[in-house]
Amino acid sequence: MANRITLTQFIIEQQRELPGVSGTFTLLLNDIVTACKKISHLVNQGDLIGVLGSAESENVQGEVQKKMDIITNDIMINALNWTGHLAGMASEEVDDIIKIPDQYPKGKYLALFDPLDGSSNIDINLTVGTIFSILRCREGIDPTLEDFLQKGCDQVCAGFVLYGPSTMMILTTGHGVNGFTLDQDIGEFILTHPNMTIPDETSEFAINISNQRFWEAPVQQYIDECLQGKEGPRGKNFNMRWVASLVAEVYRILTRGGVFLYPLDMRDPSKPGKLRLMYEANPVGFIIEQAGGVCSTGRERILDIKPTDLHQRVPVILGSKSEVDRIVKYHRQG
Ligand code: F6P
Ligand code: MN
Repeated sequence: MANRITLTQFIIEQQRELPGVSGTFTLLLNDIVTACKKISHLVNQGDLIGVLGSAESENVQGEVQKKMDIITNDIMINALNWTGHLAGMASEEVDDIIKIPDQYPKGKYLALFDPLDGSSNIDINLTVGTIFSILRCREGIDPTLEDFLQKGCDQVCAGFVLYGPSTMMILTTGHGVNGFTLDQDIGEFILTHPNMTIPDETSEFAINISNQRFWEAPVQQYIDECLQGKEGPRGKNFNMRWVASLVAEVYRILTRGGVFLYPLDMRDPSKPGKLRLMYEANPVGFIIEQAGGVCSTGRERILDIKPTDLHQRVPVILGSKSEVDRIVKYHRQG
């Protein structure tokens, strides 16, 4: 097929148009692509190679780890720690910041990642993904926690890879959102979804309704109005989806619009929401905004939050602009 643009070509050409860009970023992105291709292969092989099931351990957040949580975390670290493009890393699966081993040079970027998002779905053969966020770092330093605690609006790049029926990478460097599909025959990501934009007209929502009794009034009101359908104040019927993989929900919304909520939860005051700011909410928030959508806690733009902790949780409401604006308005009124 003619004119197939690979991810590498796309990034090199995009970077050429930006002043003062050195090419290191393209190399870093290639490191991430290599890691994600390895993960894609393992996810695809599944039980043939015995990688499914529980690891019978817990991560720093008290969640039971799957074998694949640990394997994919190691793949990411081992693909990124030696190349000289990073000054440090952070992962959902590791309590502290991850240092670059002394024997390797340090670069000018930080990578933060959720190596296997939606891993509760891995054993039932549903879509999972890898989410990453790239931040700048002063060159040549050994970064401290403070160097990582940057606002989402300062991200250089954000992306996620979806291990679904096709393996796809969704990427933004702050110039729109582009989607690439992995051609398994040649091992390259090919640009298949240029300039992704979120349709604004929607009647689909995603929320884990089993938590309803813990929601605040504005979210109760919004969902109640959707459920009333044609007979209610919205005057139309709504559809509902819940995949329990953030990457899959976000991809669906990028493709056909809709709204996703993991709102403030009154269950445990130490956990305001479920999703983690730095390697879940910030990267998907950057992508959603670049595709014309909105990403909010209900009270604040996600990308404006000054992080206080590597693993802090935030309420997340994201998707088509008119719906998220409506939910934010309910929060202001509430
Ligand atoms: O990483 C957290 C996550 O697995 C997301 O991918 C997903 O959106 C959510 O949690 C699912 O939550 P629940 O277990 O409440 O359905
Ligand atoms: Mn996750």
